[in-house]
Amino acid sequence: MNALYRHLALIGFMGAGKSTVGAEVSRRLDRLFVDIDRVVEERAGTTIATLFAERGEAAFRALEAEATVEALRRPEPAVIALGGGAVGTLEIRKALQEHALTVLLEVAVNDAWKRSQSGHRPLARDRTRFEALYDEREGLYRDCADATARDAHDVVLAAGGVHVGVGSLERLGELVPGVGRVALAADQRVLGIYGAEAQIALGTRLGATHELPSGEDAKSTGSLERLWGELRLDRKSTLVALGGGCTTDVAGFAAATYMRGIPWVSVPTTLVGQVDAAIGGKTGINLPSAKNLIGAFHWPTRTVIDPVLLETLPTDERSGGLAEVVKTGLLAGERLWELPDPELVRRCAAHKVAVCVRDPHDNAIRLSLNLGHTFAHALEAGAAYSTVSHGHAVALGLRAALQLSVRHLGLDPAAGQVVEDVLRPRRVRVDLERAWQALARDKKAERGRTKLVLLEKLGKPVWGVELPDDEVRAALESLVER
Ligand SMILES: NC(=O)c1ccc[n+]([C@@H]2O[C@H](COP(=O)([O-])OP(=O)(O)OC[C@H]3O[C@@H](n4cnc5c(N)ncnc54)[C@H](O)[C@@H]3O)[C@@H](O)[C@H]2O)c1
Repeated sequence: MNALYRHLALIGFMGAGKSTVGAEVSRRLDRLFVDIDRVVEERAGTTIATLFAERGEAAFRALEAEATVEALRRPEPAVIALGGGAVGTLEIRKALQEHALTVLLEVAVNDAWKRSQSGHRPLARDRTRFEALYDEREGLYRDCADATARDAHDVVLAAGGVHVGVGSLERLGELVPGVGRVALAADQRVLGIYGAEAQIALGTRLGATHELPSGEDAKSTGSLERLWGELRLDRKSTLVALGGGCTTDVAGFAAATYMRGIPWVSVPTTLVGQVDAAIGGKTGINLPSAKNLIGAFHWPTRTVIDPVLLETLPTDERSGGLAEVVKTGLLAGERLWELPDPELVRRCAAHKVAVCVRDPHDNAIRLSLNLGHTFAHALEAGAAYSTVSHGHAVALGLRAALQLSVRHLGLDPAAGQVVEDVLRPRRVRVDLERAWQALARDKKAERGRTKLVLLEKLGKPVWGVELPDDEVRAALESLVER
């Protein structure tokens, strides 16, 4: 379940931070924010404290129910912060189920008490009663919640159906939505390391396990055809993909096309997968003539990310992922690459989710995720997809994009230093003409001009930038060893 086309409702005890987090999430998802307590105050023409004192709790609950149900019935998906006691009203619980993805914003009772003392909250005057109310509501919150969150990043992740947590592979069984049969499709090497753990976690729901070749070989028509042929699922079944971006791309595409589409769950095991490939619903395979030429948008019903799985990742694969992490940090305007793995993954994943929920079909802001990739694809093509790794190509692509950003959009020259310090890309020996041809052919090129993603400043990408051919060519040449 996700909030792509539904409201995102925040529930939780008073003092959980629903108003602050809700406002932040609405900004990140570019959605209207409705704070029900404020709506009630506006309609009543007075504060909630006065309303309680003068007209009693029942009158407040009636106004709250009216405002909440009305907001939940509006067609345009919004971020809606509910009052702390709203889930006590049956009508509201029903409307939540029908119209929203509901996220419980968790808070410890002590913190809730401290935070509630600053406002004039009628139910936060007596500590014993406050704690009793906390205990009483806890079960109700959990019954209503589709996901739980501690902060705005968690809420954004929940909006995309993404669960990030150390040890989540062990909990895979409970994290795969639905009750139907499950098939596991896994990268050969990953199956040897984590297969047993995944199979045990999936328990009796697991029907069959399908082994996929490691790496890009998985994304071939042959491998896809084999998988299609092996699947014995019905439309209520779920295909679980365990592996790197190649595995989630092909298994996601199999799920998008098998019986005209069945649900799937992605369980990424590489850094590229956890911060990028397994999120956002782009699935596909390669043709000999071009990478990712055949594909479909098919959002996973859940993405389960366990950062612990990165511990067995070979160093080369990690470096490839680091280029995507740096790209994400530049787009988000935060030094995400400096964080420890679990937090690095959580924050990068949250950035990608926010962008993809805003623009699921790649028409606007999602294009910003191509920062550095236009040059990267050209370099990979110039190397006939053999001698230059994708991660190295992205690192060089970022260098070119940042240099052009300094020259044309006034980006601070110091911003580009991170690429040199963290990724240290060396120029590569490739066929320059072939790389240039590929750049011209790149799918982002329209009417003969290449559209680039550049940065105005850290955290402020601009897409669709057109520059004269000689500028673009010079930037490409600067990445190539001669
Ligand atoms: N769909 C998207 O939005 C999207 C975005 C970015 C990239 N991609 C695709 O992702 C693919 C690249 O994905 P990738 O970089 O994850 O590569 P990958 O899937 O080929 O995995 C890399 C290697 O790491 C091994 N491996 C995976 N997890 C491991 C673990 N935990 N421990 C030990 N070994 C492990 C695999 O066996 C494989 O050999 C490309 O095909 C690219 O097109 C898709």
